[in-house]
Amino acid sequence: MSESEKLLQSSAVVRQRTRTRWPSLAVICLVVVLLFISLNAKLQLLAFPLSLISEPPRPPPDACPQPAPLFPTRRNAAIWETIRTQTASDAFKLGPGGALELLAGAVRIPTESYDDMHPVGVDPRWEVFADFHAYLARVFPRVHTTLKLRKINTYGLWFEWPGADPSLKPVLFMGHQDVVPVEPTTVGEWTHPPYSGYFDGHRIWGRGSADDKNGLVGILIALETLLQNGFTPTRTLVAAFGFDEEASGLEGAGALAGALLTAYGEDGVAFILDEGDGIVNTFGTALAYPCVAEKGYLDVVVEVTSPGGHSSVPPEHTTIGILAALLVQYEANPYPVRLSRGSTPLQTLQCLAQHGGSALPPAIRALILAAPHSDEALRALEGILAKDRLYRSQLATTQAVDVVRGGVKANALPEAAHAVVNHRILTESSVAEVRAHNIAALRPLAERFNLSFTAFGVAEQGAPGTARGTLALRDMYDALEPAPVSPRDSSAYELLSGSIKAAYGTRRGAANGSDTVVVAPAVLVGNTDTQFYWKLSPHIFRYGHGNAAAGLRPDEILDKIHTVDESIDADDFVEMIRFFITLVLNADESVVL
Ligand SMILES: *[C@@H]1O[C@H](CO)[C@@H](O)[C@H](O)[C@H]1NC(C)=O
Ligand SMILES: *[C@@H]1O[C@H](CO)[C@@H](O)[C@H](O)[C@H]1NC(C)=O
Ligand SMILES: [Zn+2]
Repeated sequence: MSESEKLLQSSAVVRQRTRTRWPSLAVICLVVVLLFISLNAKLQLLAFPLSLISEPPRPPPDACPQPAPLFPTRRNAAIWETIRTQTASDAFKLGPGGALELLAGAVRIPTESYDDMHPVGVDPRWEVFADFHAYLARVFPRVHTTLKLRKINTYGLWFEWPGADPSLKPVLFMGHQDVVPVEPTTVGEWTHPPYSGYFDGHRIWGRGSADDKNGLVGILIALETLLQNGFTPTRTLVAAFGFDEEASGLEGAGALAGALLTAYGEDGVAFILDEGDGIVNTFGTALAYPCVAEKGYLDVVVEVTSPGGHSSVPPEHTTIGILAALLVQYEANPYPVRLSRGSTPLQTLQCLAQHGGSALPPAIRALILAAPHSDEALRALEGILAKDRLYRSQLATTQAVDVVRGGVKANALPEAAHAVVNHRILTESSVAEVRAHNIAALRPLAERFNLSFTAFGVAEQGAPGTARGTLALRDMYDALEPAPVSPRDSSAYELLSGSIKAAYGTRRGAANGSDTVVVAPAVLVGNTDTQFYWKLSPHIFRYGHGNAAAGLRPDEILDKIHTVDESIDADDFVEMIRFFITLVLNADESVVL
């Protein structure tokens, strides 16, 4: 199997096991990186004629600016040095009450969320979250006595640590308490049981260890450590943890959003950090991928009805036959691939080309560097990327026929049949554009099969009753627009980038700050709880600083989330905590946020 086939297979497993309303594959922004590997192989075959590029490619100076590592230098300088030493100790990682023990304890509480859950108070399956809260209160005593804790919709956690200067906008750290359910049939396949929190000397094993108990516990350890060292914030610090991110998110973050908006107001938060990507060894260079964009989401139900009857006297086409023709029509009309200047995927590539290592094929580097000023290079690059279905997921709205239902009996004509077409909407597009694409693709077939056509509540053609049957399109769930893109030329993005570099350069075992990481903005093709928080801040980052210690290549990373054998490298987890601490202290000192 090629690398890309392996990836596709593992992401198919992820999708299949998730079954969420808006599948929340935070880690899937790794996909952008994974592609570089298969791309590498493909280039050998494509041999793009470089003579097409009229000018010799020069890196535009501002294609991917990299700020210097940012360390606390003012009032938080001393505490940062103290904590740097503390977090480098074995006791911090391995000791009683140490980072690994706290994460393992959290993993042992099976906070599963299901797609079919009834509201809090009705469905008893939520009650395990009370156990989780009790655990957190026990192991994070300082956080629970010093910070103000409000529980929203019973299980949503909202911690607030008021800063001395209320005129400064707070910063918001997010995470989620719930985990993807473990399929009972797969329990035997786990190397260590899914809720064991087993530590084998290198990794903590179990559901949630990498998504997102690590983020949630990591943030709380960061806060507890800061408290232990006498830190008092100048800027208010907020942490909010939903509890159904792996389902709809509505009960948790959906409810928290209203409370936070009332408390802090529109655009009232300096920046938001939620789970997301980390650091990946890409073509031999360490790249950090904060996701600044998130694709939109739309599930369309396509339903056909026509008169039933005995199948011994059938019409030319049954509802199932018609539906099949409609689905073929979908697949014959994919969305165009667009690599546009100023888009996040092109920015990701610019960072790779400008700062990436020598393992990047020269022809690709040349094309990427030329793309900002050469139309030929831009189109050629688009053409190359479009051939790879993983890149297409970054550069186009995608559609996938994921459900089909119809017919009950071998000798009865089916009166109704339906399918569900899943769409992930490109940042540059919209829900309206996707609906229009659906309508335009199916209209001719509605006519051909003599069906009245209603799309998203509007009659498009014919009135029901005047035709042989009906075709209706409707949303399966609330549609989600693509997220607004967090601007890259902002103080918040610069602060985040500088903090990533500072944490990385001082990581355990680093050669005294000599190692560097390139920060590249990226797109998330899954969704996170941040979808409810857009109004709070234009600066939303989905980034967890994962893989900072291990420095794995993309093909070595993806298989550990949402599926069997979820686990996290112990040093990676400690680095995550160090990153949170660095970011908190930098944000607290910042006078530009
Ligand atoms: C469409 O179906 C209706 C109802 O069966 C029928 O009256 C009408 O003639 C049909 N139109 C065409 C163009 O076949
Ligand atoms: C790191 O290097 C700087 C100078 O480059 C030196 O002053 C410092 O002592 C070194 N720190 C460690 C921990 O080696
Ligand atoms: Zn998650």
